[in-house]
Amino acid sequence: MWAAFRAARRSLGGRSTRSLGRTFDAMVEIVPVAEDLAASYRECLDVVAREKRYLAQIEALPLERIQGFVRESVATDAVQFMAVQGRRVVGWADIFPAWAHAVSHCGSLGMGILPAYRGQGIGRRLLQACIAKAQAKGITRIELEVRADNERAISLYKSLGFKQEAVKRNAMRFDGVYFDALQMSLLQSAA
Ligand SMILES: CC(C)(COP(=O)(O)OP(=O)(O)OC[C@H]1O[C@@H](n2cnc3c(N)ncnc32)[C@H](O)[C@@H]1OP(=O)(O)O)[C@@H](O)C(=O)NCCC(=O)NCCS
Repeated sequence: MWAAFRAARRSLGGRSTRSLGRTFDAMVEIVPVAEDLAASYRECLDVVAREKRYLAQIEALPLERIQGFVRESVATDAVQFMAVQGRRVVGWADIFPAWAHAVSHCGSLGMGILPAYRGQGIGRRLLQACIAKAQAKGITRIELEVRADNERAISLYKSLGFKQEAVKRNAMRFDGVYFDALQMSLLQSAA
């Protein structure tokens, strides 16, 4: 289906569907995390988690935990961006550094977009904002784990320079079914 979409876009010279996407996502802004977004961020995270397909967590943490987490992100100027329509969060991406000295140049990426907003370039914009800020803050290795059948996410990561490092077998389990996960990374020197 994605191949058909790409072929259709190619046959339109790559412009018409792209500009349609832009018209829609022009209304979606990428902004740094802010405390007033905490509840909406939680709702967005909860929707993606409850799909039980993409994230390790299957529901969002309670609001007070999320509010505390967001407060700390704001206070530390963390690498965490939100895609917002008005003040409604429709997606997020973050890169948090490891705390221990020898791995403090490494950051872990997490992201998600509400189903209705996927495939419109919002993930790419969020990820580009995160990569730029993470690298500016001295994170030279960005790493992630992604379910091996998550084609859209893998395609996005590869298109921004991430390379596969390993396959973690049976790394995730949803309702008793195991799934492999890929470990991927982006090194600043290779970006
Ligand atoms: C993965 C995710 C964050 C990507 O964000 P997105 O906004 O949907 O992605 P984009 O529209 O920016 O797409 C970027 C690239 O992905 C690829 N892509 C998009 N849709 C695709 C699909 N259905 N199949 C395969 N590749 C696809 C394309 O290469 C596209 O690049 P292009 O615009 O040059 O063609 C989003 O789909 C999502 O939230 N998925 C569920 C949660 C999730 O998987 N989180 C990541 C866990 S590791």
